[in-house]
Amino acid sequence: MPDVTVTRRLMFNAAHRVHNPALSDEENTRLFGKCNNPNWHGHNYTLDVSVRGAIDPRTGYVVDLGALKQLVEERVVNEIDHRNFNLDVRFMQGVIPTSENIIVAIWRELEPAIRPGRLARLVLWETPNNYVEYAGE
Ligand code: NI
Repeated sequence: MPDVTVTRRLMFNAAHRVHNPALSDEENTRLFGKCNNPNWHGHNYTLDVSVRGAIDPRTGYVVDLGALKQLVEERVVNEIDHRNFNLDVRFMQGVIPTSENIIVAIWRELEPAIRPGRLARLVLWETPNNYVEYAGE
């Protein structure tokens, strides 16, 4: 059967402060500007989870998108929705919570649990104008 990529979109919101504790306050302000605001700020994130695999001849699906949604909620969204990336999220401890670092952390949480098929790509939108993508390299 042909390999097809299917994508499920999920939304969450979360707070963060982009801050490197190894640098001075002045350097943090210079590097990160408003994103270094000490009292946090939030984003409405959009996460696109793409799974690639063969079409199951019994169902016609690569993966049941309802089951995929449930898996992503259990492994990732429930851990980060309405939370603070700097303070609350186990898999972001010790990491500057930029979109780049968030998407790699999400990949590591999800990738071992994806089946059938394999995790092919994540896209994380921090704002309507900014997104990052990761395919596991
Ligand atoms: Ni931000």
